[in-house]
Amino acid sequence: MPKHFLTILDIPRDEAHQVLARAKEMKDNAVRTDLLSGKVLLLIFDKASTRTRVSFEIGVRQLGGDPVFIASKDSQLGRSEPLKDTARVLSRYADGLIVRTFGQGNLETLVEYGDIPVVNALTDEYHPCQIMSDMLTMYERTPDLEKLKVAWVGDGNNMAHSFINGSATFGYELALACPEGYDPDPAIVDKAVSLGAKVTLTRDPAEAVAGAHYVNTDVWASMGQEAEQKKREAAFAGYMVDEALMAKGADNAKFMHCLPAHRGEEVSESVFESPASIVWDQAENRLHMQKAILEWIYK
Ligand code: CP
Ligand code: NVA
Repeated sequence: MPKHFLTILDIPRDEAHQVLARAKEMKDNAVRTDLLSGKVLLLIFDKASTRTRVSFEIGVRQLGGDPVFIASKDSQLGRSEPLKDTARVLSRYADGLIVRTFGQGNLETLVEYGDIPVVNALTDEYHPCQIMSDMLTMYERTPDLEKLKVAWVGDGNNMAHSFINGSATFGYELALACPEGYDPDPAIVDKAVSLGAKVTLTRDPAEAVAGAHYVNTDVWASMGQEAEQKKREAAFAGYMVDEALMAKGADNAKFMHCLPAHRGEEVSESVFESPASIVWDQAENRLHMQKAILEWIYK
């Protein structure tokens, strides 16, 4: 049976800690291997990407494999060929699918009808590669993740959901501040809490950030929600991470953002460009962590 990585919860807790340590080792030693020699991994993207696409294409090469990129709109998927048919065709050619799409159900269809590993490169529901990489960014500064308070300020979106799952796996306390109507999916919260996640939800950004070691936010309108931009700007007023909000965090609190960022909306220019901002390390760590995830799948 192929291994898949659709959410953080797909990696058993003990193995997730090993993946984290291995990602750090890969980063520290600029690891190159031939693990994927002779293998072709297809990247199929329904949405735009800079970091995920480039870090996966380079990471696959650094493990000895060949990446092939397909923009869905340029393929027959863009002309309504069913995903379940595409899954069976591509399984005959390739050794894995790295997929950025809308509904998580699309990934489940690829798993059901294909017979090669599927990796979630972002869906409307989750962004597990990003949050695993963010774990590395926190771990290399503060290795005992269970002692951390992480704040989430803004939309209860795909990023928030993966941070919620991450709390179940890595044991940090997660405090979310979301405006009314933009809470995370209660079913995702309930499942993670049943697995040990420590999650609190408030409307007050200052309460969520109080004493936090890491303060996270994300765009107010995710990909696919562009038509809601104005409505969301109104709903999220008061949720910008600025210097006053950062000052409520722990001493030396760090600002995190998966990027791309909208300065002047979810984060102020001064926080984004401040020494507290570790966004470039986050972006770099996509490469190292995704190599470790591919190793977990293919080794
Ligand atoms: N953070 C992230 O996933 O960036 P891209 O959309 O550029 O891949
Ligand atoms: N929540 C954002 C993350 C982008 C990396 C989106 O889905 O567009």
